[in-house]
Amino acid sequence: MPKTTVTAALPYANGPVHIGHIAGVYLPADIYVRYLRNCGREVLFICGSDEHGVPITLRARKEGITPQEVVDRYHDIIGKSFKDLGISFDIYSRTSNAVHKETAQSFFADLYQKGAFAEETTEQYFDAEAGQFLADRYIVGTCPVCANENAYGDQCEKCGSTLSPSELKNPKSALSGSAPILKPTKNWFLPLDKLQQSFLNEYISNKIDWKSNVLGQCKSWLNEGLKPRAMTRDLDWGVTLPALPGHTEGELLGKVLYVWFEAPIGYISATRELRPKDWEEWWKGDTRLVHFIGKDNIVFHCIIFPAMLHLRGDGYVLPADVPANEFLNLEGQKISTSRNWAVWLNEYLEEFPGKQDELRYVLCSIAPETKDSEFTWKDYQARVNNELVAILGNFANRVMVLSHKFYGGAAPANTPCSLDALIQGGREEAAALLEELKKATEEYRFRDGLGALMNMARLGNRFLAETEPWKLQKTDPKATETAMSFALEMLSNIAFACEPYLPHTHQKLCEQLNLLPLEYMVRAFWAEGKLLKPLPAGHPIGEAALIFTKIEDEQVTFQKEKLSLKTMENTSPTDVPADVQNAVKPEITYDDFAKLDLKIATITAAEKVEKADKLLKLTLAVGTEDRTVVSGIALHFQPEDIVGKQVLFLANLAPRKMRGIESQGMILMAEDADGKLVFVAPTAPVASGSSVS
Ligand code: 2FM
Ligand code: ZN
Repeated sequence: MPKTTVTAALPYANGPVHIGHIAGVYLPADIYVRYLRNCGREVLFICGSDEHGVPITLRARKEGITPQEVVDRYHDIIGKSFKDLGISFDIYSRTSNAVHKETAQSFFADLYQKGAFAEETTEQYFDAEAGQFLADRYIVGTCPVCANENAYGDQCEKCGSTLSPSELKNPKSALSGSAPILKPTKNWFLPLDKLQQSFLNEYISNKIDWKSNVLGQCKSWLNEGLKPRAMTRDLDWGVTLPALPGHTEGELLGKVLYVWFEAPIGYISATRELRPKDWEEWWKGDTRLVHFIGKDNIVFHCIIFPAMLHLRGDGYVLPADVPANEFLNLEGQKISTSRNWAVWLNEYLEEFPGKQDELRYVLCSIAPETKDSEFTWKDYQARVNNELVAILGNFANRVMVLSHKFYGGAAPANTPCSLDALIQGGREEAAALLEELKKATEEYRFRDGLGALMNMARLGNRFLAETEPWKLQKTDPKATETAMSFALEMLSNIAFACEPYLPHTHQKLCEQLNLLPLEYMVRAFWAEGKLLKPLPAGHPIGEAALIFTKIEDEQVTFQKEKLSLKTMENTSPTDVPADVQNAVKPEITYDDFAKLDLKIATITAAEKVEKADKLLKLTLAVGTEDRTVVSGIALHFQPEDIVGKQVLFLANLAPRKMRGIESQGMILMAEDADGKLVFVAPTAPVASGSSVS
């Protein structure tokens, strides 16, 4: 059996990871790796933070800190939350460390020496005031497609068009606001057009067993015809260029490796860090390279990285499989980091302590394996309560409680009786389910794998319903022993089968059943599909304890409110530079404006909202009327300091409930580039309720 090197996309360290990342990438990868390990296969599971790239510099500018401070913060948060969820990386590394710099630079230098790059001087936008070249994201202008005046140099977020900076009308630098000039600069390009002919067409055409969503995207890139792509960029945050023969140091100054060139090399760097002596065995020779990614990463892992490895040669293997997933939506909308429309993993883990497997279960059940899928809190609650609690938890609990009640916690004997045929049928069904679970997991069909696991629990419940040990005990205690022995046998098998999908539940069940998963038993179970035998008579059973508890309606309401609140509080998109926020919004008509009922109001009372750090509940006098408004300003003002202040008030905003309080309108605030909030008020007191127009 070859080794398997499994990688999971290196998340950008510019924010925490959210449930979309987990469902699409990290959970499937973890299930796959745990499965391989259980089978006794040699596997390394590689991941780390992607600490370069423009999104990180944008976040740093927005927060007024250095990019290194940004990545230090999020590297820790992300790493900790993965660990807590049970994502079992062999290493969680980072691309700002020295071994990565060295690995990426020598990879580039090697391709350079081989003459793999085309050196080209192109005209790029340069901000003369800021004295630097501008990454595409740092250029803002009018979209040629929809006339949105705030389109970025790489994309218009309004109409979704992919753009290049030269297509923008009236381009401006997001750094200084000035009009950028075009300035010549030298960069090194990967001739993907040539590589398509010499290598990529054939490489992809052989991948007939790849997932159809992945192949579909690859073919569409190839059909369009690949274009050369710059592998170096004029930026000051990233891996600097290695010395290049024929070029002075000065010529290379201010340039870094393209983040999509060095990030996948991060997988190699992390392997070197973990296994300094034998890392090559995981990248060369008899090893399978499998990349778990989301659909937006397909071109980089299926086309660009294989081309780089191919050019490098030297025994490097090419990706054997790239089981990319589609996207997970949230409550009917696309997950959006900038609008804060997301369920962040670190927050979930804090708010649902001990419920890691509940999230793993739900996200695996709805994983976007073949098309985009959707997470809602109501559905989360329904799946936990009606499936985990009612099926798996219920079976486990009944078996444990009855074993204690009837036998004082010692496993009963399994002696031949009238139930033998039923039990034999049950074993055959369980063996078939284990086979299905294995096959589905091996083929990256994790939703089906989880379905097979739950069917084992259904089988257990059906057996209890058919034999009714609680009644049988009164009439046939011998047969009851055999029935309960089989129920315990089924529960032990479920405890084993859980491991890749629900590792925390595996742990709990093994403890309750007092099972020590010995290596040879684990191998026989997973590699050969051999079910566990009945527990020996007298085997001591541990304490019974509920493995899952219900999600209450209040928890769902809380999460849904939190979601809409966060989006509201997030008035300025977190990953848009402050200068871009200053840009003028698209024109509106007078009629649009006249719809706003703006008034001056006076704050007459203010108090903190319980369990909501950012919220104040305000009472406003608006003429003769009192209005209640929930406002996300608690981090900026003390309640006692603002009573008596006059504020600008939007009186006809549709009311909405936040934390159970109806907010009847909105106060308007000014926010500067550092996020400081200031009230907007008349320059002299006026009667409250005065209109503003
Ligand atoms: O899309 C992303 O989040 C990238 N940071 C993934 C990089 S994967 C690999 F190339 F490192
Ligand atoms: Zn547009």
